[in-house]
Amino acid sequence: MSGDIPKVELKRLAAEKAVEYVESGMVLGLGTGSTAVFMVRAIGRLLANGRLQNIIAIPTSEATAREAEKWNIPLTTLDVHPVIDVTIDGADEIAPDLGLIKGLGGALLREKITAVSSKKLIIISDDSKVVQHLGEKAPIPVEVIPFARQPVYAYLQSLGAKVIEREGFITDENNIILDCHFGKIDDPYSLAEKIRQQPGVVEHGLFLNMAATAVIASKDGELNLYERNFRN
Ligand code: 5RP
Repeated sequence: MSGDIPKVELKRLAAEKAVEYVESGMVLGLGTGSTAVFMVRAIGRLLANGRLQNIIAIPTSEATAREAEKWNIPLTTLDVHPVIDVTIDGADEIAPDLGLIKGLGGALLREKITAVSSKKLIIISDDSKVVQHLGEKAPIPVEVIPFARQPVYAYLQSLGAKVIEREGFITDENNIILDCHFGKIDDPYSLAEKIRQQPGVVEHGLFLNMAATAVIASKDGELNLYERNFRN
């Protein structure tokens, strides 16, 4: 019997640490998933007690929008606020260069649009998501328009993936998800480019050169911060 802290608690610790980056007056991107929920709640509490003011947020999914509304976090859109100060989001795999796989929660399309519209993307996670090479544990989710299901499926197989359609799942943009098991990926940049080449692929879950910071809680509850200075 180990003294490890439950994973859900590690998610909460990482989320609440990342919220320290949020300042009054910011436009925020709110990620999706069980870790991001803790971030939304923490922001809601800080707004309620007045320690944060004038926050406006863009949710990365309908689920996150509903959670934010419960906490009275004012919401906006990219039409009104095209530049986001900070987005805080979870991930499914985190490589040493902060390359990510995201989208097991099915929100990768809005998450990526939000990420690239952000001055800073902060990833929050427990350390079970840390890998040496992307693809070690997680498949790459690929969002596909339903009309293109079969040709995209065949194309992704031809790239070497074992492809599994996420049954009964429709994204917020009414698309399907094909989970692509590649195993350890040697060159994620080249693979990302290849996946995008097939018509009908809307987006994929490789988030490369996007995260600036990762807040990762280790099993004993210690919080580790990883910074990546790639944006000038
Ligand atoms: C949703 C995502 C999530 O951030 C990712 O799946 C992590 O989720 P969780 O915090 O529940 O482990 O990419 O599309």
